[in-house]
Amino acid sequence: MVGYKNYTNIHIFDHPLIQHKISLMRDKATGTNEFRKLVDEVATLEGYEALADLPTEEVQVETPIESCYTTMIAGRKLAIVPILRAGLGMVSGLLTLVPTAKVGHIGMYRDEETHEPHEYYCKLPNPISERLIIVTDPMLATGGSAVDAINQIKAHGGVNIKFMCIIAAPEGLERLAEAHPDVQIYVGHLDRELNAAAYICPGLGDAGDRIFGTK
Ligand code: PRP
Ligand code: URA
Repeated sequence: MVGYKNYTNIHIFDHPLIQHKISLMRDKATGTNEFRKLVDEVATLEGYEALADLPTEEVQVETPIESCYTTMIAGRKLAIVPILRAGLGMVSGLLTLVPTAKVGHIGMYRDEETHEPHEYYCKLPNPISERLIIVTDPMLATGGSAVDAINQIKAHGGVNIKFMCIIAAPEGLERLAEAHPDVQIYVGHLDRELNAAAYICPGLGDAGDRIFGTK
């Protein structure tokens, strides 16, 4: 992973497997079935790295040979919170790593004219304050949806938050990093810029439509 400018909370992946899978996702010829699988796989690969700082403890285990102390993840509970719709596509890839995680949901959509986010749903595990929270959304464009979703999670008591996306635009990445400097941000690939319609260039189009086949 590499950093970005002077931001200490931005982590950009450079692993060849993640880059290869993102390139397949960008291709407009990639159909819904394959696209969904790729989102799932990238979420697992990103999650593996993003969870590298999970606290651990030594526990005593009886092997068939002898008793030993061995490493396990220490008590911290996890919540995965996808931003609907597209963030849903990353949930099963993270559950592969942490099957006991609880899953919350935040519904946001971007107004097509203003590009401003609007929240329409919020249901989080209760209490959320004790959990490490992973917010997922494949696309970080203007950053409005991610900033508002994390505002909402904090208003519900969330404290320990990570945000994971697949593609980010510089504009949204800086906005999120500045609005929530306490949130660690994981990015599969940093793209060039936003276009006039606030789509990421070169991007991969509308992630929700490509995951759910709704175009
Ligand atoms: C997309 C995407 C993000 C948001 C990013 O969702 O999944 O949530 O746009 O844009 P922003 O950074 O400028 O806020 P969209 O609003 O299209 O809803 P959908 O997932 O239901 O398609
Ligand atoms: N949302 C998407 O799905 N794609 C973009 O490029 C921007 C916002």
